Amino acid sequence: MENPFNAVMSMAKRRGYLWPSFEIYGGSAGFYDYGPLGVRLKENVLAEWRRCFLVGEGFLEIDTPMIAPEIVFEASGHLAEFTDFMVRCEQCKGSFRADHLLEGKVENADALGKEELGSALSEHGVKCPDCSGQVGAPYPFNLMFQTQIGPDSERRGYLRPETAQGIFLDFALLYRQARERLPFGVIQVGRGFRNEISPRQGLIRMREFNMAEAEVFIDPDSTEHSRFSEVADIEVPLVPNTGDTVTSTLGAAIESGMICNGNLAYFMARTYQFLTTVGLDPARLRFRQHLPDEMAHYAGDCWDAEALTGFGWVEIVGIADRSAYDLSAHRDRSGKDLTALRKYDQPVMVTKRVLVPDMRAIGRQFKGDAPRVSAAIKAVELADDDEVPDITVEINGAPTSVQGELFEVKEVTEKVTGERFVPRVVEPSFGVDRIVYTILEHNLRQEVREEQEGGDEDGEAFRVLGLPPRVAPFKFGLFPLVSKPELTTVAQEIDAMLKEHDILANYDESGSIGRRYARMDEVGTPYCITVDFDGLEDRSVTIRERDSRSQRRVPIDDLVDEARTLIK
Ligand code: ATP
Ligand code: GLY
Repeated sequence: MENPFNAVMSMAKRRGYLWPSFEIYGGSAGFYDYGPLGVRLKENVLAEWRRCFLVGEGFLEIDTPMIAPEIVFEASGHLAEFTDFMVRCEQCKGSFRADHLLEGKVENADALGKEELGSALSEHGVKCPDCSGQVGAPYPFNLMFQTQIGPDSERRGYLRPETAQGIFLDFALLYRQARERLPFGVIQVGRGFRNEISPRQGLIRMREFNMAEAEVFIDPDSTEHSRFSEVADIEVPLVPNTGDTVTSTLGAAIESGMICNGNLAYFMARTYQFLTTVGLDPARLRFRQHLPDEMAHYAGDCWDAEALTGFGWVEIVGIADRSAYDLSAHRDRSGKDLTALRKYDQPVMVTKRVLVPDMRAIGRQFKGDAPRVSAAIKAVELADDDEVPDITVEINGAPTSVQGELFEVKEVTEKVTGERFVPRVVEPSFGVDRIVYTILEHNLRQEVREEQEGGDEDGEAFRVLGLPPRVAPFKFGLFPLVSKPELTTVAQEIDAMLKEHDILANYDESGSIGRRYARMDEVGTPYCITVDFDGLEDRSVTIRERDSRSQRRVPIDDLVDEARTLIK
């Protein structure tokens, strides 16, 4: 049997789905172009994703820049932590991800630290996979692409490694859009960039890729999702970090404590429904819980949706509990209020002593760091007769004392309507290209046909791409049986009629009808409409179904309604 990746990519390139970028200049690992059919498939998958999150969950969609100034990733922790361990071959100078060289030798090598990776590499006598040379010691490599914003080289920026940060930075505005009520979700679809050390797995590991992310802001006190009962009976294979794979309903997994967070479980269910709707094989899907050491720097718990492919089990969606990590980090760094309000039933009057910053004096002394200094002053909470504590702020890496003349102590009485807190975030993060690739791999099959349509040779092997109608690039092939004016005229009339109703069909009048069916089967078109001579008598056509290859006659006048029903 041909390697599944080669089978998919040879079809994908020949038929216009996907191919490696920059090929006329020799290519560059980790970049792919979507061809005409690939773009349609990707957009249809995204339409389905929006149906799930924008329509189904009522989330808000935004679109933020792909480049961000350094301060964003300093605050988010990506500058310090978004690294993979790399090793270099001392002979050929090739670079490799240290954990990838340990695949099959050590379980969950990506959970290991630098020293452990180094020991494991020597213990297993790992050599360079390209030239068998000695590999050096592992060292951290930051995956973000650095760039310069404007001509002033001092202003460093980075291409975003995830779309999520754009959402966190906008929290205060979005909270207002959500009428200041939790929970609410925000989605973003767009490119992410990671300078992957050695991308050798096609669309699984790209350096520029498509993400679809949802950040759901919840009250940290709420452990349940209000719509969980809708999904409690969905059964999925689960691989907890404490034991073996079990197939369980999500309701039972919550009850047994295997999944601790009802919100994570809810979005695992919605993810499962989405993935199976767009054509992933349920028998090749599972959810795996991260090991404590494997999690991203911001995550408290994480379950990945994984798909079984020719590359083994591959993460295609990460569903993480990011806790209050990101909003707290940006609040601390920017000094801006990124909290939500838990309203009291009745407002209460509170008298308290507060520190009021002298903005002019602070600005003179601290310049660009002034907002952080004033935030540190405002954050001091004084009980009735407390002394004002020492206030220190880190400026240019050194703790700096904030002197008493920079603020005033005042007694104020205010109406307090509730308690402010930093929301918790649950994040389902979808890798669109990994999903598109897996759809192709899970649905491409070879069929040997005993009897061929249209008089072509029997016993030939045909490739069929069994895409669900919802995501297929063309919903219909549309053919005159032969290229004769009496048939082409009617077929073109039907083409115009379908277009008028926004139904995308692939009109084709060249070659044998068997070849035209075969071509549509290989690109995943679920139905073909054929105009033949019998149909000229009673204004009817045949509709052929890709998977059964059965045909039935349908009156032309009913075709639009019929087509709509078929593609739903
Ligand atoms: P991996 O462990 O495979 O590197 P990750 O854990 O770093 O992945 P996340 O940071 O959780 O991945 O990213 C969210 C999603 O984005 C992943 O589930 C995956 O589908 C996708 N993704 C991540 N990195 C890449 C990449 N280099 N190319 C294509 N898709 C990616
Ligand atoms: N936003 C999730 C991730 O990139 O890991």
